[in-house]
Amino acid sequence: MKKLVAGNWKMNGGLASNRALLDALGPVSGVNVLVCVPYPYLAQAQQRDPAIALGAQDVCEYAAGAYTGEVSAAMLREFGCSYAIVGHSERRALFGEDDSMVGRKASAALAAGVTPIVCVGETLAERDAGRVMDVIGAQLAAVLDALGPEAMGRIVLAYEPVWAIGTGRSATAEQAGDAHGAIRAWLQRHGVDGRAVPILYGGSVKPQNAAELFATADVDGGLIGGASLVAEDFVAICRAAA
Ligand code: G3H
Repeated sequence: MKKLVAGNWKMNGGLASNRALLDALGPVSGVNVLVCVPYPYLAQAQQRDPAIALGAQDVCEYAAGAYTGEVSAAMLREFGCSYAIVGHSERRALFGEDDSMVGRKASAALAAGVTPIVCVGETLAERDAGRVMDVIGAQLAAVLDALGPEAMGRIVLAYEPVWAIGTGRSATAEQAGDAHGAIRAWLQRHGVDGRAVPILYGGSVKPQNAAELFATADVDGGLIGGASLVAEDFVAICRAAA
């Protein structure tokens, strides 16, 4: 399967800088490219190259109603989003999202035809305590509870070790491969066709380490933060996945 490289701009950008960044991106043959932009810029990004898929960085768990400040999956669909990141560790840590909310958000996205990119991953303390798959297993179980095994086969997962996000310290290819393999095995053990679920790696991916990470078994692409804001770096990372 073609790899998927997703840029997560986080809360960065503006009309002028977005225009320059989007203009510098183009389709890269042999790889699926996605940009996840802040909500106000969805319309701007929607008017750019149709070969680059569009995604949001979050989605509301509810379909409509009195939820001030929230954005529904159907609204995202109307603005051309085919993906929404769900359960990013920044949302879990800074905005109080727990495993069950992440499951409900994934369900809301799928119901509106938006593919959730569900983020899972451990902190450094959890890794040091040997609890990597305990933590990830609990995160996955909540999503499986919300979706059931068939729909679980229609999501994208992103393994993002929290200690590697924005730190410049990527997981090694071996660490990423071990985690991705364990996630895929977990899916199979729980009645999900794990081969159908792309598993992206995220955490300090750069042009310098992208090729090695993407060459690793069970790494089906990347979720790129800081480097997705620099056009030449993001394009180089996309090419490394082709
Ligand atoms: O969503 C992206 C991840 O949080 C990775 O961010 O590439 O800046 O480490 P980073």
